[in-house]
Amino acid sequence: MTIEASKSEQRAAKIRLGMVGGGQGAFIGAVHRMAARLDDHYDLVAGALSSTPEKSLASGRDLGLDPTRCYGSFDEMAQIEAARPDGIEAVSIVTPNHMHYPAAKAFLERGIHVICDKPLTSNLEDAKKLKEVAEKAKALFILTHNYTGYPMVRHARELVQNGELGEIRLVQMEYPQDWLAEPVEQTGAKQAVWRTDPAQSGVGGSTGDIGTHAYNLGSFISGLELQELAADVHTFVEGRRLDDNAHVMLRFQGGAKGLLWCSQVATGNENGLKVRIYGTKAGIEWTQADPNYLWFTKLGEPKQLITRGGAGAGSAAARVTRIPGGHPEGYLEAFATIYSEAAQAIHAARSGATVDPDVVYPTVDDGVKGVAFVTACIQSSQQNGAWVRV
Ligand SMILES: NC(=O)c1ccc[n+]([C@@H]2O[C@H](COP(=O)([O-])OP(=O)(O)OC[C@H]3O[C@@H](n4cnc5c(N)ncnc54)[C@H](O)[C@@H]3O)[C@@H](O)[C@H]2O)c1
Repeated sequence: MTIEASKSEQRAAKIRLGMVGGGQGAFIGAVHRMAARLDDHYDLVAGALSSTPEKSLASGRDLGLDPTRCYGSFDEMAQIEAARPDGIEAVSIVTPNHMHYPAAKAFLERGIHVICDKPLTSNLEDAKKLKEVAEKAKALFILTHNYTGYPMVRHARELVQNGELGEIRLVQMEYPQDWLAEPVEQTGAKQAVWRTDPAQSGVGGSTGDIGTHAYNLGSFISGLELQELAADVHTFVEGRRLDDNAHVMLRFQGGAKGLLWCSQVATGNENGLKVRIYGTKAGIEWTQADPNYLWFTKLGEPKQLITRGGAGAGSAAARVTRIPGGHPEGYLEAFATIYSEAAQAIHAARSGATVDPDVVYPTVDDGVKGVAFVTACIQSSQQNGAWVRV
């Protein structure tokens, strides 16, 4: 089943969407808006787009929102929208990390579905509280670990699930960047300022910002549960208050071993997310810079290059592929796939139907695991790299 705009049975009325964060000058909010539009399932109708009422209104005007639905705070938006007969059914939360918990809680408790960016929260206590709220709520919680939306990532996961790799031995993940190689937060650069502030970002710097993505992706493909880890978390840039590099050894339930490297000071790397998984029968390699391709090597055989839309790609990749092979799909399409998966679940919730079992999206549980991973990395490193249970 391909996620595509033309599927008549999916053409239920569009989901009325609100957004918290993503105002003028913000980064990921605009990506969420594009992702929500791609498969035509949502209408953005309201927002608390910025931290001040004035900027929220100005940002809403830029997007053509009804000024009466541009709110000064997410609390006001949750209250008023929940009471409107045509109020929002779902909200995207794209603020700095420390606001995820209070904002998500405000909407979930009013029965409004939440699509929230990662990491789930800025600390483990909030993550566990949010899990409780989400479990009690009459609404869904979707976490945008967007890399799980790539067709070749879905194919890699299907290969593991079909036993093509045999028993998994090794899971290698890395996410190097270089944009924080210098103290850019001291220049006032918005995205760097909050990411290096423990009060807004949380206990982790690079570990929370990109380590959680790499960890989630390795777990998503391999299906393995992390048991314990030993980490060397470090801050290279003088004066910075959170980590900008981490090397982490991982032990998974069942005996597989892993290694995760995340860095924001690795010169020459932009968003170098890469996952390699090796089992008793075969190995796979996928890199975000070349997302339409997956290397698959059976033991004793030449390497195979599986292409998105090509002959070797299976049904899991096909259902999230939009255009023929050879025409590249990328970051925005993968992000849109998370929105489309969420839309299918929200449509099902609306009508009381059962969700298609092929629908997959990261959940609040994945979010708690991510924050637990960050917390354990910091604890381990503070004990000179001791093994810590997750
Ligand atoms: N999935 C991904 O690939 C990805 C990529 C980048 C960022 N993110 C995550 O998205 C979130 C935002 O990151 P960003 O880089 O877009 O940050 P940003 O600083 O560019 O944007 C944050 C926005 O939130 C607004 N905001 C802050 N407090 C608010 C409040 N109380 N109410 C309403 N709006 C408020 C700011 O005014 C700004 O518009 C973070 O949690 C980050 O980890 C995810």
